[in-house]
Amino acid sequence: MLAPSLLAPSLLTLRIAAIDAPTSQIKTFTLEAADGALLPGFEPGAHLQVEIPSSATGGAPQWRSYSLIHLDVSADPRDGVRAYRLAVRREDEGRGGSRHMHALEVGAMLNVRTPVNHFPLAAPPRVLLIAGGIGITPIVSMATALAAQHREYELHFSGRTRDALPFVDELRALAGKRLVLHADDDPATRLSVDALLEGAQLNQPIYVCGPAGMIDAVLAAARKRGWHECDLHYELFSEAAPQEGDTAFEVELRSSGQRLTVPADRSLLDTLIENGADVMYDCRAGYCGLCSTRVCSGDIEHRDSYLSDADKASGKVMQVCVSRCTSGRLVLDL
Ligand code: FES
Repeated sequence: MLAPSLLAPSLLTLRIAAIDAPTSQIKTFTLEAADGALLPGFEPGAHLQVEIPSSATGGAPQWRSYSLIHLDVSADPRDGVRAYRLAVRREDEGRGGSRHMHALEVGAMLNVRTPVNHFPLAAPPRVLLIAGGIGITPIVSMATALAAQHREYELHFSGRTRDALPFVDELRALAGKRLVLHADDDPATRLSVDALLEGAQLNQPIYVCGPAGMIDAVLAAARKRGWHECDLHYELFSEAAPQEGDTAFEVELRSSGQRLTVPADRSLLDTLIENGADVMYDCRAGYCGLCSTRVCSGDIEHRDSYLSDADKASGKVMQVCVSRCTSGRLVLDL
């Protein structure tokens, strides 16, 4: 069996073998090696990074992360898979990645990075899974793994309307009565986080993925009821957005002396990427840790959930995807 074509140890070039549209806003993509070879395995909650070319970003090529969907209880994706399946929700106001993905056709080739997992599923006895919209994608794979292991779980899946929820038939076949659907436009089924947690056991492990508002509501309600932090697991499906009051600042790259201006409505990470700086990144939301960058000087407004309080207080490191400078000028060890 031939190995899939490798660009570098962690890079693959894969062919789009199928595209489906489970809702009007969401497309799924099935990716295979051109030679049909087995692809590296992945755990529930893992994602792929897909390269978005400069023609779509308007600047340098960028990477976007999409969770891997696994719905086959008879196969363990950790052993390797014949295809990766991911889902992309079209964001017309986004930065171009989803529009590019939605314009692709079967047969197109994509550069991807091999799977990584920032949202691992532990092996607790009883799990509460909560998903909002496209946030269902990592949760699908968790439900499949729990079903395959005959573990107890409940899956609450919420969206603006019932039609906006993808994979409902597959999930119903997988989870049966464990699946509870919620639609914002239906008062009878609209998700009530309080009611949901009232019916749960204290410290029952919760895995939640979806929009920031939903994750915040679930975490706040669980903490108020006394849940331990170690039983709260979440993955944010939105990137950091500019905040009111954000201002432009200058950043200097120490190795080259290059000076860049970070506009008020752009992240430091985007400015660095667009100007060719070599920065690793993944989540773009301040939790994966990949974009940690050493700071030589400048005051930092930390907005991440990755660094420790001690790291933040040191003023010597920052997550450039979300954090900003409050002193007008920053010098980075890049
Ligand atoms: S890219 Fe994940 S913390 Fe910045």
